[in-house]
Amino acid sequence: MILSIESSCDDSAIAITEIETNKLLFHKKISQEIEHSVYGGVVPELAARLHAEALPKILEQVEEYFPKLKAVAVTSTPGLAVTLVEGVTMAKAVAVALNIPIIGVNHLIGHIYSLFIEKETQFPLTCLLVSGGHTQVMEVKSLTEIETVAKSMDDSFGESFDKVAKMMHLGYPGGPAIQELAYGGDRLKHNFTVPLHQSPLIAFSYSGLKNAVRLAILEEEKQEEPNFQDIAASFEHIATKHLTMKLKKYFKTVRPNTFAIVGGASANLYLRSQIEELLKPYKAELILSELQYCSDNAAMIGRVGVDMYKQGIFSSLEELDIAPRSLL
Ligand code: KG4
Ligand code: ZN
Repeated sequence: MILSIESSCDDSAIAITEIETNKLLFHKKISQEIEHSVYGGVVPELAARLHAEALPKILEQVEEYFPKLKAVAVTSTPGLAVTLVEGVTMAKAVAVALNIPIIGVNHLIGHIYSLFIEKETQFPLTCLLVSGGHTQVMEVKSLTEIETVAKSMDDSFGESFDKVAKMMHLGYPGGPAIQELAYGGDRLKHNFTVPLHQSPLIAFSYSGLKNAVRLAILEEEKQEEPNFQDIAASFEHIATKHLTMKLKKYFKTVRPNTFAIVGGASANLYLRSQIEELLKPYKAELILSELQYCSDNAAMIGRVGVDMYKQGIFSSLEELDIAPRSLL
């Protein structure tokens, strides 16, 4: 079995995965959404402190599996340095105590593997990752052959939802709050410009849209009873249209066969429906992770861990050292 740990942002999670069957034997996640909500975003130092409290509590619950562990997998990059270090330190302690190897897992590969929890992998695929930290399209041939073909030049898709939600005083995380508010709103009421619509680049950008939305919010706030529903609906529409327009451009050169959407924001129902529409003419298969595994979790890290273990890819303890940025 593999023990896996995730602490790259604001979710503390631990899983146990059976190597031979990919079966998820245990998974527990403690989210910090409520604690960060008052600040309208993740406060790294607070997140680190909460991981330090939560991770040992979850680890206690899996002690019965310790004799059967073959390796420890842990998210080692990318993420917040102060929170990654919490998971990595725990992983090192378990690895040393049980004398088993450690596997440093890339969080983005983790999101790709959220598609394969308790399943066999299905490659090749074209994958759109939409999370709080990333917006990127990847061609995935295997665990070790992943090419990023498009990415955001500034804010990410999920981050733009978080920032717009903050401006509307909806708390954190913004994605689910905006999705709920947008439901039933007039998506065409505010004619925000689709980012990079005249650019030949296959890339993403959300900072301009965020500013246009900010101005619409300021205008609406002049009303006696401001109502942000149509702004939320129009924002969600344009943020999504930007993705589908760029994907359509990309598909002119690389026809999709199997297409996947992963990451926290892949839970967005409007995005899912628009991508489904986009794929229809190509008769491409759309694969999605279960809703519970879209956002950060340790099951996806464990699933990558299983494949890395089978391929003999391990890390040294030193490789996983996380230095403060000022020392790098
Ligand atoms: O993958 P994830 O849990 O963490 C990162 O790796 O960043 O993604 C979290 C992001 C947040 O920005 C959150 O607002 C966004 O995913 N998100 C959504 C939705 N649910 C979560 N964005 C849009 N619509 C949603 N329904
Ligand atoms: Zn993530």
